[in-house]
Amino acid sequence: MVSQSPAHVFKAMVLFVLLYKQAPVNSKHLYARFISHLEDLERFDSQIVNNLTEAVLSTKILPIRSELTNGVEAYLRDYYESSGFHRVEDALKKEGTNLSKNPLCAFRLLRRTKIILRDLALRKSFRKNFGGLWKHYIMYFWNYWHPYDHNWDVVLEKLLRLQLFYGFKAEIFANGLMPEIRTNCSLNSLHCYEISMAALKIGQYAYAIEWLELAKKKALTDRKASIPLLELTLWNAIEKHNLEFDEDVMMDLEPVFFNRSISHDPGDSQKAEKLRDIQYEAYKGFGPLHDDINFWALCSGENFQSERAKSRLFCWYEFKRHPGLTIGPRKMEFLTRDPDVVQVYEILYDDEIKDLMEELSKDMEDSTIIQDPFEFSQNRQISHRAYSSSRRTSVNARVVFPKYKLGRRIEQVTGLEIIKCKYKERLQVASYSFGGHNFPHMDQMSHNVQSHGDHRLATFLIYFNDVEQGGYTAFTSLGVAAKPVKGSALFWFNLYTDRGADWATFHGACPVLLGSKWSANKWITYTEQFSVRKCALKTRARFQIPVNNVYLPLPEMEHDVDSN
Ligand SMILES: *[C@@H]1O[C@H](CO)[C@@H](O)[C@H](O)[C@H]1NC(C)=O
Ligand SMILES: *[C@@H]1O[C@H](CO)[C@@H](O)[C@H](O)[C@H]1NC(C)=O
Ligand SMILES: *[C@@H]1O[C@H](CO)[C@@H](O)[C@H](O)[C@H]1NC(C)=O
Ligand SMILES: *[C@@H]1O[C@H](CO)[C@@H](O)[C@H](O)[C@H]1NC(C)=O
Repeated sequence: MVSQSPAHVFKAMVLFVLLYKQAPVNSKHLYARFISHLEDLERFDSQIVNNLTEAVLSTKILPIRSELTNGVEAYLRDYYESSGFHRVEDALKKEGTNLSKNPLCAFRLLRRTKIILRDLALRKSFRKNFGGLWKHYIMYFWNYWHPYDHNWDVVLEKLLRLQLFYGFKAEIFANGLMPEIRTNCSLNSLHCYEISMAALKIGQYAYAIEWLELAKKKALTDRKASIPLLELTLWNAIEKHNLEFDEDVMMDLEPVFFNRSISHDPGDSQKAEKLRDIQYEAYKGFGPLHDDINFWALCSGENFQSERAKSRLFCWYEFKRHPGLTIGPRKMEFLTRDPDVVQVYEILYDDEIKDLMEELSKDMEDSTIIQDPFEFSQNRQISHRAYSSSRRTSVNARVVFPKYKLGRRIEQVTGLEIIKCKYKERLQVASYSFGGHNFPHMDQMSHNVQSHGDHRLATFLIYFNDVEQGGYTAFTSLGVAAKPVKGSALFWFNLYTDRGADWATFHGACPVLLGSKWSANKWITYTEQFSVRKCALKTRARFQIPVNNVYLPLPEMEHDVDSN
């Protein structure tokens, strides 16, 4: 019998990890989409960096001017360039750099571990000189998988999505500037080239050209990317842009072009305007026909409610809806009326959220993470270009609904049955990292077997954290967006009293720009709501949310979205 020596098995493992490029799509670690996994990677990266830095500082181990030294230096340089630290000692002391929260730092983190560290680990000399670190590296990726190519595509698309939604100029974005924030992570010519390739792949031509021009400019000084290669790629990108551009696209919603054909004269594209910007200015606020553009605008903090509509909004303390509220009233706020959307504050307190998150993270590990079917479709052809190529980039899990306080509190503020319902859906928890979003959709239909295909009468959407920037919940037809506030929740009815879907409640999750977002949907099904079903009389009538048991007169029918 042939016995395998441990060293032999270990070597096989190593080869498997290092060379197995395409991990299965549903593999365990979703670095690009799940903030917890990205945070794990960040901790791992900083451990490796700390140890390598100590080694370099002690200068005992590393031979001068060897391939190994160059590799180690490349890796460390990449880290220090994108971590915001200028002195090594600061970095060694500092804990938790929050790289995963920032799109540019996170991009570089993933890239560094996927490409630079992997190259380093493949070297024999690394294994010889840093045996302990090398084993650590292998064990880590043995457990969690190497960041594979699909992760990489998702990250690049997320950067492009942020640019499209928030209207960033590539140069400003690449230098680490975002609204109200300056980060110390920036992009060099090679990074810009990689983003341009992703833009080309999904047919975002104007962006591809913009990133290539920027790469060319940066390459003159940083010399990371080859200028002839950039010029060739740029030539091709311009050809592709012009081939698909014709005058008619200016009338369609085609934000991926410039407003005219681009010539091959250097810098010509910079004299043209992006259709994205023209169409944004022309169509924002124009109602449901331009949902995508309204969505971007609401995400950027615009509001399209009329002055009259706004004058009917207010906050109040609710203490009458349920006897339990007499001693603990809840602060509520109308975001719109007819349909009524309210934000309920302090439905959960900080320590409760902490406990709940701990419970949830255990549940989420076990529960099958629901992957988005759109994300993996190969069909990224022209008709479904870029901005609609992936409808959702969050990680979702259904977890057991924590009945205790939360269920009771929801009952108190909504007046609906939660706890005793037989056919209830589990709580759907969604986690978004940078660039994570969910396109506008309706909630009314349940495809979940637990609820027997029941209609979702109402949605109770809870925010578990504050998002540093972005991550609003935008109601595209209503012209308003809610800001995630830790411990608060949104509440609205998805159905009319006759059970028809109320399309005005179309809503989506804006991409997270900075930080991460955790939220949960508690859907309240129709069948068991005997108290409200009694009043299903007129067709197309809406359920109202009363203010201390008073149903305020409804404003006469008028559209709340300004049409100018
Ligand atoms: C960026 O670098 C500067 C200069 O070292 C430092 O003061 C600042 O705190 C850094 N910013 C971040 C977000 O790390
Ligand atoms: C990381 O983020 C947390 C919470 O946003 C903050 O308290 C902490 O100071 C940040 N750490 C660094 C090093 O910036
Ligand atoms: C990293 O360095 C620390 C302190 O020197 C040491 O305790 C630890 O074992 C090292 N980690 C690895 C994986 O080599
Ligand atoms: C495109 O935009 C540029 C810059 O704003 C403008 O000068 C030019 O006239 C526009 N061209 C067309 C065809 O609209």
